[in-house]
Amino acid sequence: MQSPASQPSCPKAWVCLHMIPALMAVGYPWYLAMFYQFRLSERIAEALLSLGLVFAVPGSAFVSLYALGRTPSMRSEGVVLRRVAYLAFVSPSLFVIVGVFLYLMKIDGKDVQVWVGFWLAILCAALLVLLGRRGPIAPAPSPVHMKAVRVMHGIAALVILLVFLVAHLVNHTFGMLGADAHREVMLVLRSVYRSPLVEPVLLTLLFFQIISGLVLVESKIRSRQGILDVLQTASGAYLAVFIASHINAVFVLARYFGTETDYTWATALPKGLLADPWNVRLIPHYVLGVWLVLAHIACGLRVVLVAHRVKRCRASAVCWALIVASTLWAAVIVAGAVGVRI
Ligand code: HEM
Repeated sequence: MQSPASQPSCPKAWVCLHMIPALMAVGYPWYLAMFYQFRLSERIAEALLSLGLVFAVPGSAFVSLYALGRTPSMRSEGVVLRRVAYLAFVSPSLFVIVGVFLYLMKIDGKDVQVWVGFWLAILCAALLVLLGRRGPIAPAPSPVHMKAVRVMHGIAALVILLVFLVAHLVNHTFGMLGADAHREVMLVLRSVYRSPLVEPVLLTLLFFQIISGLVLVESKIRSRQGILDVLQTASGAYLAVFIASHINAVFVLARYFGTETDYTWATALPKGLLADPWNVRLIPHYVLGVWLVLAHIACGLRVVLVAHRVKRCRASAVCWALIVASTLWAAVIVAGAVGVRI
């Protein structure tokens, strides 16, 4: 993909290239359905190919964000395309929240229609905005302007990590030992994070993270970005939707209606996530939710290290090492969630 500055005579081709993630996102429900069907009929190669298409939606959006982030002088078209790419990147969790909302509204079997309608509206709006917007824009505001938000976002993240998130992910690691082992750990942890003192604070901090995170992503929408910067903002955008979707599922879909929110519920046991055409959407939602929350923390740590005068290359090396470790941890958690047991 070429930058607008290097290809001013051919903006249409450039715009079309960056529309690929949005166009791919339109087909997201079909890739999931194909994966489910092929796995059911044990056509493993086709199932893996379909799974590849599922992940190609956020994957292509990431490539687009990376290419747009390398643009030397940002044009206004680039800002619109970045917003569309962020939306495509969050597709896996967006499709879950759409499904849960429709289920709560008792609208049965219309997920695909709503999804396609939503994306056609986004594509139409983006093209209309692009028709009216051309040319270079003012440079991004200095990051100094966002310092207070960044510090508050970082402090809130640290509290969430220490009070809940590390324990929550350790809890899910026990999933590989089975639902009973997971439950034993969960009951101990619940006495802390479900206590009347901790739970409201935790939820307030999570909502603050969603809002402050989106403000920070927006503040970077005109900036040049390297790969770790893109990972940080894209994972932040993803988490905003993942956390909203996850909290809605836990508190509204389940707890409000008296459903026990244990591992059996979260991973659709005893049939499992792979054995139901609706639940299959939870697999990419969980894969990216766990992996990106860890990667996001690693990228945040890199910024903190650089701010404390650690050499940029050393901070990036620490960050990459943590991303590798995050990948392994996420793989173990997701393996347990899809039914692998030791
Ligand atoms: C494989 C991935 C995940 C699964 C299967 C999962 C599952 C669950 C389950 C079963 C609960 C209910 C716990 C209970 O009733 O005590 C829960 C609660 C929650 N999860 Fe997750 N989770 C996952 C990842 C995450 C991530 C990455 C985050 C944060 C970014 C997160 C944030 C939360 C929050 C805030 C709650 C509510 C805690 C409360 O009850 O106060 N989860 N999750």
